[in-house]
Amino acid sequence: MALREILTYPSPQLKATATDIANIDGRVDQLATDMVETMYAAPGVGLAAPQVGVSERLIVLDVNSEEPGKDILKLINPVIVERRGSILWEEGCLSVVDYTAEVKRSAEILVRAWTPDQKEIEIEADGLLAVALQHEIDHLDGKLFIDRLSSLKRDLYKRKLKKTLRDGPPPKDGQRASGI
Ligand code: NI
Repeated sequence: MALREILTYPSPQLKATATDIANIDGRVDQLATDMVETMYAAPGVGLAAPQVGVSERLIVLDVNSEEPGKDILKLINPVIVERRGSILWEEGCLSVVDYTAEVKRSAEILVRAWTPDQKEIEIEADGLLAVALQHEIDHLDGKLFIDRLSSLKRDLYKRKLKKTLRDGPPPKDGQRASGI
């Protein structure tokens, strides 16, 4: 097991469309294990392979903060096959440092994917799990949550980031949004 480095905006690797995984083998299983470890260490509730520099369609999630480790999802080639309703959720991202914003997502989704032990599964999700799944699958398409904001809000973030890179990070206020 090994921790992987998490890439942050504006890394060009976060903009690439990830490729389908053709063979679910030991390499994929190891990558998923490393990603889960990296996600917990961050700490975050979801992580997509492009965030650790691997442009392949693999995501990991654990939105159960009551019992971490009980409901780990490792999903290969995930696809959203049904959507219903809409929901606004305050999102953050491990690849977008020190910024959160409200994003509009589908309220309920049905996702089809493969597991590392080569089973095809379906997941019905709402609430945080639905939001996190859509956020992670966006990463596979080279999309960050800031790409879903108005250009005004996105420019605000870019200016804030420029200032941070120039002056160093602002003092922490002790609040932390869950990184997905
Ligand atoms: Ni993210």
